[in-house]
Amino acid sequence: MNKTLTAVGPHIKTALPGPNAQRILEADNRLISPSYTRSYPLVAKCGHGMVIEDVDGNEFLDFSAGIAVVSTGHCHPHVVAAIQKQAAQLIHMSGTDFYYESMVELAERLTRIAPMPGPHRFYYGNSGTEAVECALKLSRYHTKRQQVIAFYGAFHGRTMGALSLTASKPQQRRRFAPLVPGVTHVPFPHLYRRPKGSDAKQYAIECARFIEEKVFTSTTPPEEVAAIFLEPIQGEGGYIVAPTEFVQELRRICDKHGILLVDDEVQAGMGRTGKWWAIEHTGVHPDIVCSAKGIASGMPLSVVITKAEIMDWVPGSHASTFGGNPVCIAAALATLDLIERDGIKNASEAGALLMKRLGTWPEKHAIVGDVRGRGLMIGVEIVKDKEAKTPAPDLRDRIVQLAFERGILFLGAGPSSIRLSPPLVVTGEEAAVAIDVLEECVSIVERS
Ligand SMILES: Cc1ncc(COP(=O)(O)O)c(C=O)c1O
Repeated sequence: MNKTLTAVGPHIKTALPGPNAQRILEADNRLISPSYTRSYPLVAKCGHGMVIEDVDGNEFLDFSAGIAVVSTGHCHPHVVAAIQKQAAQLIHMSGTDFYYESMVELAERLTRIAPMPGPHRFYYGNSGTEAVECALKLSRYHTKRQQVIAFYGAFHGRTMGALSLTASKPQQRRRFAPLVPGVTHVPFPHLYRRPKGSDAKQYAIECARFIEEKVFTSTTPPEEVAAIFLEPIQGEGGYIVAPTEFVQELRRICDKHGILLVDDEVQAGMGRTGKWWAIEHTGVHPDIVCSAKGIASGMPLSVVITKAEIMDWVPGSHASTFGGNPVCIAAALATLDLIERDGIKNASEAGALLMKRLGTWPEKHAIVGDVRGRGLMIGVEIVKDKEAKTPAPDLRDRIVQLAFERGILFLGAGPSSIRLSPPLVVTGEEAAVAIDVLEECVSIVERS
């Protein structure tokens, strides 16, 4: 093991999975829902910063951040202290029926960083899918319109409303129909896969105009459309960045037809892209923002932020017993401190370092088709054939598995991409170690 690896990890001491992990995996196999999509047998025991230790004492560098959740790293002392303090004071009182101060405290913090001008209103839930569910119901309620538009490749969650917007993988929808009616899916501009010879900007604009020129003129009158749901960077769909012109064109279409632009920042938000919100890179103001994952460093919390006048529903329209739990809010307030202090800057700087290395790979590696992203939200698309751009899910999965065996945790995203979504505290040294390992794995798969 070279010096760098020894300094920052990983440290793999047993065959994987180790003996303790095997025992838990057997029980898990018997007891836990087979619907989960585990890529490799990591059985986590504890975590600190970038490191996850498994039940056999192996240490991994976590470039997945628990699916882009632990924004401040695992068990940051500031977050842990905030959770412990709040847990000793008040664990639950249900903000839907009673009041407590931290609900407004977090709202006041978020109003200062929201990606659209205030005044704002806030709704609290427990997960990303609940945030989307809220946005969907509120869009219909506020506009009194029924139709919504979402994009192919989108992932907005798995509850019935959010699932109806999701169009990422058929298995996510298989045998669950009928879903919520009124959703039309339209193309999302994946620039790497645009028609050969087409201009990138023009293609991006055409994707947005498809809504006006085809959808509104054939199946869906614009005055019946409540909202367009957008991920400014498609997450589960493959870490695909929405081009600026595309987002701007969507804003124009929404303004023209009185449609709400819902910005799903569940994965891309909270400083991960080097700004508080991914949509800020485009200069576009959304009407509704959905946030979750990174907002509370691993505690279950989601927040929907709207322009105040949009949240015009009346008591009883929507609520959740646990939404805005005091312990989760305490974790969120501590998380915001840390993201504000170092996280955003580091996401930008560490992201640039990663990109500098990764950016050369499409030239250098036969199976790397594309590298894209913003800040610490980077996708590496693996292909069988550069010319035809044939997706290579099997090769991608092997690379992710080999990286796991060498102690680096990555996850796949979309049909054949590897996602890099480390905690925002990742150092340049840790990034270099992870990229060295990833490149070694890419080279092994390339040669085989
Ligand atoms: C953009 C986006 N929206 C919504 C969700 C759903 O979030 P959750 O899994 O917390 O319900 C996800 C989860 O990956 C997501 O990436």
